[in-house]
Amino acid sequence: MSDAPKIESLTIIRPDDFHVHFRDGGVLRAVVPSTARDFARAIVMPNLIPPVVTGEQASAYKARILDCVPEGSFQPLMTLYLTETTQPENVRQAIDNKLIHAIKLYPAGATTNSDSGVHCVERVIPVLEVLAETGTPLCVHGEVTDPDIDIFDREAAFIDKVLLPLRERLPELRIVMEHITTRDGVDFVKSQDDNVAATITPHHLMLNRNHLLAGGIRPHYYCLPIVKRESHRQALRVAATSGDSRFFLGTDSAPHTRDTKESACGCAGVFNAPNTMGCLAQVFEEEQALDKLEMFSSLAGSKFYRLPANDSRITLRRFAEPVKFPAMLATATTSSPAGLDGFDQVTGPDSSIVVFDPAQPVYWDVVRD
Ligand code: DOR
Ligand code: ZN
Repeated sequence: MSDAPKIESLTIIRPDDFHVHFRDGGVLRAVVPSTARDFARAIVMPNLIPPVVTGEQASAYKARILDCVPEGSFQPLMTLYLTETTQPENVRQAIDNKLIHAIKLYPAGATTNSDSGVHCVERVIPVLEVLAETGTPLCVHGEVTDPDIDIFDREAAFIDKVLLPLRERLPELRIVMEHITTRDGVDFVKSQDDNVAATITPHHLMLNRNHLLAGGIRPHYYCLPIVKRESHRQALRVAATSGDSRFFLGTDSAPHTRDTKESACGCAGVFNAPNTMGCLAQVFEEEQALDKLEMFSSLAGSKFYRLPANDSRITLRRFAEPVKFPAMLATATTSSPAGLDGFDQVTGPDSSIVVFDPAQPVYWDVVRD
């Protein structure tokens, strides 16, 4: 540890979240203010039930999101969910009409609401060609789903089986490998040209698989890709804090109601929107890289997405005592079988959403008026 005096406050360009799940209905209403409070823009994931597959659906969803923004100028950046029946000309139209900023590829069966996803990448090549031609990013959930591949190896296997061949096939395609969780993911991105980048979540910077499994199973740390061993977490921390603009913030904030998390077959997802920036400042301080936080959370992502940097700023402050973040967010909703629709009006402890517990003291938080 250096003996330099501790930095007590940090002002950075207002960050963006390049990967968030807002859901719909009552959950949407509950969670959007947390993101809109600290972030100027967010790439919004399309894995609703049914998924967002057309430009019109994306526009309607955007309007529902904006309806939940309390005040200010938060801007949702919409995406489409890629299926094997997505028509290239419809995608081109949505891009030309500026309705979407990216398309999301879920391998079928990989994660929450991915059943309509892609079994065979070959079948979506015509759509990917449109993306390559227009410079539109493909966001990829980078895990294979073969039952015989161990869940901890699925990201590494995806790189070999899907990403490397895809790079050969369409080198102009711009790819964001979402929420990387391994050294393999870091090394893959670093080995590629500027057409490849990756998002990293706060929870993958703070947790390893012992947090999830040692001394009891903690369903609120269960997400996909699953948290890995410590050496992988260390590789992610080095990448995120390096100042390399190919790595940027995507929170993967993924709210599920408590009843669906604390279950015999719990849903994957960590809801971290309320405390992401405090947690990140803590991580960057520990890595003696607070000067790189702005690159990671406010500059690198917008550069990749070819958007201007935001013109407002936020200030983070270091407190003498650990910050007490809210533990829970109430919703006036639950519960489709997957807990995501938000149509039934049921209130009670099970319909609340548990906020990410960083499993360590965090001394930083955003200063809000
Ligand atoms: O943990 C996750 N939750 N990973 C994903 O890929 C999807 C997300 C969700 O939608 O809940
Ligand atoms: Zn996600």
